Amino acid sequence: MPQPGQVLYVIVCASAAARDIGRLVPLAQDEGWTVQIVATPSALAFADVPDLERRTGRPVLSRYREPDEPKAPRADAIIVAPATYNTVNKFAQGIADTYALGLLAEAPGLGIPVVVVPVVNHALASRAPFRRSVASLRAEGVTVLPAPGGDGPHTTGVDGRETSPWALALNALKDHRLRL
Ligand SMILES: Cc1cc2nc3c(=O)[nH]c(=O)nc-3n(C[C@H](O)[C@H](O)[C@H](O)COP(=O)(O)O)c2cc1C
Repeated sequence: MPQPGQVLYVIVCASAAARDIGRLVPLAQDEGWTVQIVATPSALAFADVPDLERRTGRPVLSRYREPDEPKAPRADAIIVAPATYNTVNKFAQGIADTYALGLLAEAPGLGIPVVVVPVVNHALASRAPFRRSVASLRAEGVTVLPAPGGDGPHTTGVDGRETSPWALALNALKDHRLRL
């Protein structure tokens, strides 16, 4: 469990699955996390920003702050969900041309646990660059869940329990933190 006030950054990329990311917020809050949503600039068109801001009580961040703006609180953990082909490859390459990627660029070096939930189709998941990116991130200690291979997140299981990738991501984060 997080300490009181610990902040989970949820980085949302530009996938149709971003519409569904609001489901992760109460799951994380129930575990005791304060949730801060960060969207890639392209994800703003996909996510329901007002709903995410209402659920978290915080503005969705999508750009680097101006030099005289206050710093956002430090992340204690990061989940990237949904993680696009584009952002996974850029994260692995160390590119920091969005605020989301800037946070990710530093996270492994700061010892911040990162869990990545790729949402990519079979064609993209099978590409050598993507497979190299996943291997390289894992070698740096980043947890990368298997790509669902398709059409976005699952929702709930037959017994009504949450089996979405978002719930799997929180479980993976718990495992990751236990290993630290
Ligand atoms: C309707 C739509 C759905 C998309 N869904 C995905 C997706 O599930 N996974 C993915 O990797 N890219 C998807 N894309 C492509 C990304 O939006 C595109 O690569 C974008 O540049 C990613 O930007 P980001 O990684 O900065 O969020 C989709 C594009 C559109 C128009």
